[in-house]
Amino acid sequence: MKKRFIDPFFPNRPVKDPSLFEGRTEQIDEIVDALYQTKNNNPKHFIITGDRGIGKSSLLLQTKILSEGENSLADRYEIDLGVEKYDFLSSWTDVTEGQTLENLAKSLLVDLESTVKKIFASLKFSIDLGGFVQIEKNANGEKSVTDIVNEFVKSLKTIYENVSKKSKDGIIIFIDELDRVSVSSGVSSFFKLVTEKLNRENINNVIFVASGITGAIQKLGSEHASIDRTFRDIPLPLFTEQETKEILVNGFDKIGFTFDESIPSLSYSISSGFPEPIHILGSEMLSVSTDNHICEEDFKNAKVKIVTDVRKNKLQDILTKAGYGKYQSILEAMAKYSDVNVPLEYISKEIKSKQNEFSSNIGTLIDKNIIRRVDRSVYAFVDPLLKEYIKQFGIIKIDK
Ligand SMILES: Nc1ncnc2c1ncn2[C@@H]1O[C@H](COP(=O)(O)OP(=O)(O)OP(=O)(O)O)[C@@H](O)[C@H]1O
Ligand SMILES: [Mg+2]
Repeated sequence: MKKRFIDPFFPNRPVKDPSLFEGRTEQIDEIVDALYQTKNNNPKHFIITGDRGIGKSSLLLQTKILSEGENSLADRYEIDLGVEKYDFLSSWTDVTEGQTLENLAKSLLVDLESTVKKIFASLKFSIDLGGFVQIEKNANGEKSVTDIVNEFVKSLKTIYENVSKKSKDGIIIFIDELDRVSVSSGVSSFFKLVTEKLNRENINNVIFVASGITGAIQKLGSEHASIDRTFRDIPLPLFTEQETKEILVNGFDKIGFTFDESIPSLSYSISSGFPEPIHILGSEMLSVSTDNHICEEDFKNAKVKIVTDVRKNKLQDILTKAGYGKYQSILEAMAKYSDVNVPLEYISKEIKSKQNEFSSNIGTLIDKNIIRRVDRSVYAFVDPLLKEYIKQFGIIKIDK
């Protein structure tokens, strides 16, 4: 009988356990430096950017863990911390879709206040959010960013002064999915003004550490004050073949499973360098295996199970969202190609259209986040599993 075990793969949540975190050595090194600078009153705000599912929240979470004194990841990567360990106080806020700036500012304060009070029950203080309500609206019914900044810094200062009574390295305000703030919110100006004001008030060991989807963050930064002037950008590239394999092998090792030599390469080939498909595949290969060894048959069965069961609805939705006719033909051609990165020339030949006759369709598929541009005239599926889905079920054919 196959013994029950704890699944070492978790496609639905960021990596918490530092021993299961792979790759990103350079980024961790840069982050450690930002912590070191900030502890020494040279604040370095940063934003982790990348595609959906590339591992932004995971790196953000590892930053939090490291900033609170858990060194195992930095030790494993042999990164010099500059200190024995960090001891920042940190809060975490998940932005909700379309959140306004005022609302975000308040959430950041509320989350920070409650974290401080949880850690230091003895601190008796409270912040007053009433000032936000009193800010007058302009002719367009909006509150000025400057007023929001003033209210925000006033309350942040109250919290800061209280935390200063305890010997902490500083405060880190984590903000996951900053790109969800409404584009018209003035978010770039907000952070620029807040950080400048903190600087003037000599509050130099408080930083903002955010994450966001690459393109969406650029959109937010298109207003006058660009977001990348306040935040240092830490972009996350695709995982290398080696790193992708390590995620898989590490998981198998953790529960004592062996595997055919070909399994890591096969898995990499359908992951496109994203960690999430590796977690899904790993998890499903373990579930279809009947012994403690993963063979190619298990790989094939897991792949089928993912597209016919585990991910079927999601993949079907993406395909429907693509639109019909030419859109489907393009995706069909892309699924047929032998590699994950598909040259435009190949698509053109397959669908028997000149490139300029379907370039707007390609543009729409990119806007809809179904395919992405890898290089000049080279495209790939955003969700690499869509390719497997199309191979299994074909495209949507609608007679016009
Ligand atoms: N460095 C890593 N090592 C191992 N697994 C990882 C790593 N980074 C991310 N993962 C895994 O990949 C999946 C996606 O990661 P995560 O949620 O961090 O990505 P994200 O970029 O925040 O995604 P989204 O854009 O949906 O918010 C998760 O299952 C996570 O556990
Ligand atoms: Mg995330």
